[in-house]
Amino acid sequence: MKKKFDKYWYYRHSVQSPDLDVRFIRNCYRSLKKKEACIFREDFCSTFALSCEWVKLGRLCRSIAVDIDDRPLKYGKEHSLRQLSFDQQERLSVIHGDVLSCRTTKADIISALNFSYFVFKKRDDLKKYFLNCYKSLNKNGLLVLDCFGGSQCFEANEEQVDHGTFTYYWDQKSFDPISHHAVFHIHYKRRGEKKRKKVFTYDWRFWVIPEIKDLLKEAGFRKIHVYWEGTDKNGEGNGCFKRREKGEDCESWVAYIMSEK
Ligand SMILES: C[S@@+](CC[C@H](N)C(=O)[O-])C[C@H]1O[C@@H](n2cnc3c(N)ncnc32)[C@H](O)[C@@H]1O
Repeated sequence: MKKKFDKYWYYRHSVQSPDLDVRFIRNCYRSLKKKEACIFREDFCSTFALSCEWVKLGRLCRSIAVDIDDRPLKYGKEHSLRQLSFDQQERLSVIHGDVLSCRTTKADIISALNFSYFVFKKRDDLKKYFLNCYKSLNKNGLLVLDCFGGSQCFEANEEQVDHGTFTYYWDQKSFDPISHHAVFHIHYKRRGEKKRKKVFTYDWRFWVIPEIKDLLKEAGFRKIHVYWEGTDKNGEGNGCFKRREKGEDCESWVAYIMSEK
């Protein structure tokens, strides 16, 4: 275990699966568009883990990573970028900017994962973001969002996951039914140490799928597909997401929303 507490390392190892994510996204694009995606833009990229995985997929794969906060970008440059080959590094650009207004090379895919677009609390701001994505996509482009919900999300609650040497906590502090504003914290506890509270905090609006779909349509997206998670024999999520017209009402779920330009 690392001695110094490195919050981005813990985030990467408790929240993200960038290698699986880029493969899932690439396969969805393939099956929807019947062609290969080359240019991938990772919005709200933080330490741009997905962008690093994308350029590993092949010599034609290029990534553009965008975040408004310089600190995770700097971390990504110092830690992840250096681990790529020179050729892979050449195919990755990092942009310190606002996803509401940034202008980038047109992408085949834009992803905004881990619910990051929930940061936009006003309808106009979320629509502005979707319009920017629409403009920044190639004609065959695909916008990939994730979304979460379920009855559990409408009240304060805390979940924890044991990762052996440390425990990860996802703490929903509040939910306001009038505004749908909700505050979340991520805490960590390394074995034998005190719990480190509020390592990451998110002050979000809880958007629901029908609202998101309406805004995507208003921004110009032609086809919007929801990928819902399948279940194993115990009724638990099996990590396999398929296009569905109807979901299942459960305590807590995660889904992907794929929007075609
Ligand atoms: C929840 S983290 C997402 C990390 C990563 N995308 C993931 O999948 O785990 C949210 C990130 O969004 C960034 N962010 C928030 N508002 C932004 C904006 N308007 N433009 C660009 N990045 C923004 C924050 O700096 C932060 O790094």
